[in-house]
Amino acid sequence: MGKDVIIACDFPNKEQTLSFLSKFTDEKPYVKIGMELFYGAGPDIVREIKKMGHKIFLDLKLHDIPNTVKKAMSVLSHLDVDMCNLHASGTVAMMRSAIEGLTRADGTRPLLIAVTQLTSTSQEAMENDLLIKENIADVVMHYASNAKKAGLDGVVCSPLEAGVVHERCGNDFITVTPGVRFADGDVGDQVRVTTPAKAKEIGSDYIVVGRPITAAEDPVAAYRRCVTEFVG
Ligand code: C5P
Repeated sequence: MGKDVIIACDFPNKEQTLSFLSKFTDEKPYVKIGMELFYGAGPDIVREIKKMGHKIFLDLKLHDIPNTVKKAMSVLSHLDVDMCNLHASGTVAMMRSAIEGLTRADGTRPLLIAVTQLTSTSQEAMENDLLIKENIADVVMHYASNAKKAGLDGVVCSPLEAGVVHERCGNDFITVTPGVRFADGDVGDQVRVTTPAKAKEIGSDYIVVGRPITAAEDPVAAYRRCVTEFVG
């Protein structure tokens, strides 16, 4: 499994995103495009960044009836993204339909990973709002198993959960992990954080890093530091 650092390009528009990426002249980092940028700039931003030579994780977290997700995934696979995602809570049937939609005529497809329970959902909110009475750690693992059963490639999770996910779902099942900070950096609004080196030790396959790179005085140096610590 190739390990890589994905930069979360959480910018509001195309101009700021392209200006940020223009700082990278010697390397082509893997880029995460989220809802804000995609809904603001439209699918052309994906085509443009792809044309520049970057790999793209399109983080749109689909969740709808199986047929709608299948058709939406088909559109995304033709945008030529490298990785995309959905909510595992949409059921195994929805995840299976997503894979069908994502698979191109030649049999290839982008990687597909699942969000389990959002890290913003507390045990209390899960019990009271969603009426799910199980322990949240068990729910996360059950959703990860469902994703594997449906044929997905992995899950988004905390680096601290990456080891357990691999134990339960196998080493080939990808863990994509945000919540990464340098040992000497600002934590910001993230709560459970890990350094790139620690994420590597626990077994993350991809780390998703936003502000420690995008808000750094020297983003290229910060990116290289992540790569050195995480990939080696
Ligand atoms: O700036 P920072 O490194 O905190 O950015 C992390 C990125 O990962 C953001 O795009 C954030 O939305 C995303 N993310 C996260 N925690 C999750 C899922 C996604 O921080 N559980």
